[in-house]
This record gives sequence, C-alpha cells and structure tokens, in this order.
Amino acid sequence: MLNINTRNLVKATVPVLKEHGVALTRHFYARMFLHNPELKPVFNQGNQQSGSQQQALAMAVLAYAEHIDDPSVLMPVLTLVANKHVSVGIRAEHYPVVGMHLLASIKEVLGDAASDELLAAWAAAYGQLADILIAQESAIYAKAAMTSGGWTGWRGFIVSKKVVESEEITSFYLQPADGGSVPDYKPGQYISVKVFVPELGMMQPRQYSLSCAPGQAYLRISVKREAAMATKPAGLVSNVLHRDCHEGALIDVAPPMGDYVLHEDRDTPVVLISAGVGVTPKLAMLEHLLKQNTRRKIRFVHACRHGGVHAFKQQVRELSEQYGQIKSLTYYEVPRAEDLQSIDYDQQGRLDLQTVASDFILPEADYYICGPRPFMQAQIASLQSLGITSARIHKEAFGSGGFAH
Ligand SMILES: Cc1cc2nc3c(=O)[nH]c(=O)nc-3n(C[C@H](O)[C@H](O)[C@H](O)COP(=O)(O)OP(=O)(O)OC[C@H]3O[C@@H](n4cnc5c(N)ncnc54)[C@H](O)[C@@H]3O)c2cc1C
Ligand code: HEM
Repeated sequence: MLNINTRNLVKATVPVLKEHGVALTRHFYARMFLHNPELKPVFNQGNQQSGSQQQALAMAVLAYAEHIDDPSVLMPVLTLVANKHVSVGIRAEHYPVVGMHLLASIKEVLGDAASDELLAAWAAAYGQLADILIAQESAIYAKAAMTSGGWTGWRGFIVSKKVVESEEITSFYLQPADGGSVPDYKPGQYISVKVFVPELGMMQPRQYSLSCAPGQAYLRISVKREAAMATKPAGLVSNVLHRDCHEGALIDVAPPMGDYVLHEDRDTPVVLISAGVGVTPKLAMLEHLLKQNTRRKIRFVHACRHGGVHAFKQQVRELSEQYGQIKSLTYYEVPRAEDLQSIDYDQQGRLDLQTVASDFILPEADYYICGPRPFMQAQIASLQSLGITSARIHKEAFGSGGFAH
C-alpha cells in the first residue's frame, strides 16, 4: 500500500489528468516509439491512428489516480487489460521501459508543475500498478501453458479453410503448423493473430473471437473486412486477412484469452445479443451449449444492416428449428428490396430491447452482449431499465477502452 503522502500527491493530479490526460498519453506513445521503435509492431497501429489507445491509456491512468486509495475496485478492468497484454505477448521486462517513458512524459508535459516529489509519487504509483498487472499476467501465462494443447507466445497456424459467410465476413479455419493439438478454450474467448502489413512494413497483432465451440480439430475466427469509408481508412489487418491470407498461409497465433466467457456453472437461461460481427463469440457459446446437451433456454437476438451482411443466418435458423429451447430474433436496419420476403429476419429497424416480446427478456437469465460500442451501451441501458442487474450482463467490446464504460 502506498503511503498517504504519495496517494495525496497522485490524487492531486486528477484535475490535470482530466484536462490533459490524452495529450499526456499521446506524448508518451510518440516518445516511446521514437526511443524504442522495436515496440511499434507490438501495438495496434490502427488504434494509435484512430486515437483509441491513447484514450484508453489516459482513462486507465485517470481511473487509477481516482481510485489510488483502493485500486481493488479496478480489478475487473485490470483483468481485461492483463488478458489483452498477454494476448500480445507483454512480459514483466516491458514494464520498466513503459514506466520510464510515462514518467518522462509527465515531466515533459506538465513542465514546472511536475515537482520531484510528484514524480516520485507517480513512480511509486506506477510500480504498484505494474506489480498488480505483472502478477495477473504471470498467472494467465501459466494457465495458458498448462491448458490442454496450450502454449505461450506466438505459434504458427495454417489457414486450412476459408469460408465466405457474408458480403463482408469470412471465416478462417486454423490448424497448428506443428501438427500438435488445438488448445482447449472457453466459448467467448478470443485469440490474437499476427500478420505482416505491407502498408506499414511491419507485423501487426489483432484479436478475433473464436467463432465455434471448443473441441474441434481447428480454431475458427470470422473476420469482417473493414472497408474504407468517407471519414476513415480501410482496416489494415482485416484487409490483409481477406486479401492476402489464402488457404495454406501460415499465421502467428497467441493462445485463447479473455474473461468474457459463458458461465457454464449456471443453469440460467442464456440471452445472446449481438450486432454485426459481434455475432462471433455468440456462435461459440450457442454451439457449445448444444454440444453439452444443455436444457437451458437460449435466446439469440441479432441486428445487422441487411441480408447481404447477415452472416451465419442459415446455421442459426436451422438450429432454432431443430432445438425447441432456442428462439431467435433478427433485426435488419435497412432491408434491401430482395430481403423483403426473406424468412431470415423478423423486424425492420434498430433493435430496441425495451420493445421486444417478453419471451426474449427473461428476468433470471444471463445476458451476453457484443457489438459496436454505441449498440452495447444502448442495450445495457435498456436491460438495466428493465431491472436486469449488472451481474447478469456480460459484455465484450471489439476495440480498446475497457476503462471507458
Ligand atoms: C476481444 C476482441 C475480439 C474481436 N473479435 C472480432 C471478431 O470476431 N471479428 C472481427 O471481425 N473483429 C473482431 N475484433 C476486432 C479486430 O480485432 C480488429 O479491430 C478489426 O478486425 C479491425 O482491424 P483492422 O486492422 O482491419 O483495422 P485497423 O487498421 O486497426 O483500424 C480499425 C478502425 O480504425 C479506423 N481508423 C484507422 N485509422 C484511422 C484514422 N486515422 N482516423 C479514424 N479512424 C481510423 C479504421 O477505419 C477502422 O475502422 C475483435 C476485437 C477484440 C478486442
Ligand atoms: C501499469 C502499466 C500499464 C497500464 C495501466 C496499461 C494499460 C493498458 C490499457 C488500458 C490498455 C487497453 C485495454 C483495452 O481496453 O483493450 C492496454 C493495452 C495494451 N498495452 Fe498496456 N498498460 C500498461 C503497461 C503496458 C506495457 C509495459 C506494455 C508493453 C509494451 C503495454 C502494451 C500494451 C499493448 C500492446 C496493448 C494492446 C492495445 C493496442 O495495441 O492498441 N502496456 N494497456
């Protein structure tokens, strides 16, 4: 535990962090990449360019300063960060480098306001946070190594099959290049993959949820190609995967990670809610529940733009017809002319959980939500207004910023 003087000094920086936190973290990343360019490929350069990683780190530093008297309240979000760190291979020896650039950045950005006393307080505070993360990460590494078929770091996988699932989502079936076993994992977990991005001239990691139940001879991910839009460039890794990563290609894979997982120890109904490519972890959960011959009620609620981008519709429809315990509900925001007679969707417009039939909002259920951040925020607000407690709501954001919500 830090002494009271140190904690007060750290707390006193909260107003400055609120105002200048993003400027500080932007300076920090620029400084670190200038002096330690070998770290660039470790970081998601898409998140750097969109600013979301600077934002995520600024939120983390602020939240830590605010809760310096009792950092244990940050544990759920630190678990998310630790899983993300392990998924890209962060090790204890990286912490001193990051700490050195963070402290130097505080000094350079705050100028005269950064007294030696304040810098010493932040050094101690950083050390405490680093110790918490290093301990969590070492436990996660140990677990990954002990898991059946498991490993740590990067392992070569061959793309054994590529299947187009919609106009923008393609599945990649991955098998260990060393001929060894496929790792066990929990439905809802993700892997990181690392590929060479010619536009950047470097390797880049990205996370992808496993989109099928564990226990197969392969891992499967399903990737949305992020096309260029008027206001933003094309996604780097998703385009490399779609464009250059053919059957037979070799890619680096980190072991399954993440704490957004199906609670298998419960017998509560399961309500799976997704938008767009957020459907992927739900498929692993759905398939796994059925493989386990579950008696739990399952609700599969999905929203997407139209039939052209509606992935896995046939599989979900067939499973819903086959298993009486599944009920599915699909929203198309803007159905195309050819969708109008389609049996693949039920409602037009945006999903509004406040108006869905009561059979889809089961008070005693566990709710698993995945999709774009505004979608998730809207669904969580609806569930809470319907009286669902936070402990029953489980969420995964396909980006950085666990501290943001
Ligand atoms: C736990 C987890 C699970 C995930 N699971 C899946 C999954 O199952 N399937 C899936 O498809 N994805 C998944 N993702 C998302 C995935 O990791 C990638 O983020 C996604 O594929 C985009 O990566 P990219 O390299 O193509 O885009 P990036 O190059 O990283 O860009 C990301 C976004 O930022 C925008 N951007 C880039 N530069 C700028 C700029 N200068 N200004 C404004 N915007 C900019 C891009 O246009 C793009 O929309 C998951 C993410 C996480 C964290
Ligand atoms: C106390 C120290 C640290 C804190 C508080 C911290 C905080 C964070 C946070 C909040 C995220 C975003 C998580 C998410 O929402 O997805 C993140 C991701 C990440 N961190 Fe750290 N981190 C620390 C140390 C480190 C170190 C030592 C490294 C090693 C170089 C590192 C590398 C990364 C990488 C590569 C990501 C993935 C995100 C991306 O690439 O965009 N972090 N960290």
